[in-house]
Amino acid sequence: MVLGILGSGSGSNMQAILDAIDAGTLDARIALVLSDNPHAIILERARGRGIATGVIDCRGFRTKFPEEAQAETAGRLKAAGVELVCLAGFMRLVKRPLLDGYPNRILNIHPALLPAFPGLESWKQALDAGVPETGCTVHFVDEGMDTGPVILQERVPVLPGDTPQSLHARIQVAEHRLYPAAILRIAAGLAPAPSL
Ligand code: GAR
Repeated sequence: MVLGILGSGSGSNMQAILDAIDAGTLDARIALVLSDNPHAIILERARGRGIATGVIDCRGFRTKFPEEAQAETAGRLKAAGVELVCLAGFMRLVKRPLLDGYPNRILNIHPALLPAFPGLESWKQALDAGVPETGCTVHFVDEGMDTGPVILQERVPVLPGDTPQSLHARIQVAEHRLYPAAILRIAAGLAPAPSL
């Protein structure tokens, strides 16, 4: 399974995928890592591993992922031979034409038990809501915000005295187990999208 990763931040989830590949538990290869942030640590991590990287030119938009940039991204992923696209802390909404380039072949990891707490800083949303547990979700990406079919979820307790940072850190420990496991399910044909 040839993977392409899109990320905006530190890339700890990409690192977890690499660790699973190194450990021999995930038979895959990361061919390309792209970021909308030229200074993102995920790019440094990928370069350190000799993985091809690139910056997505979002034409100066702060949060939007313009159509031309989505088409370019699909083209670069295709040229690199990518079969499955993994969003790993990528903070822009994917729409067509990137979705059209990879129908049912784009995954996202989200730091909550979807459909609860979609959007930004879901760990803060969970704390504010006073729920006793939250978690993380790997799902197929569709045109909505954090709405595509769920592949795997893991529960994480909210503990007394949790801060946004401590809760997010606990969720990330679970994320690092969940993302490689979800990719493995897809590679094994266990979690096809309905139309595959
Ligand atoms: C992860 O916690 C991921 O779930 C979250 O960003 C973090 C990226 O961390 N994604 C979202 O909130 C998407 N809505 P990483 O760069 O260390 O993998």
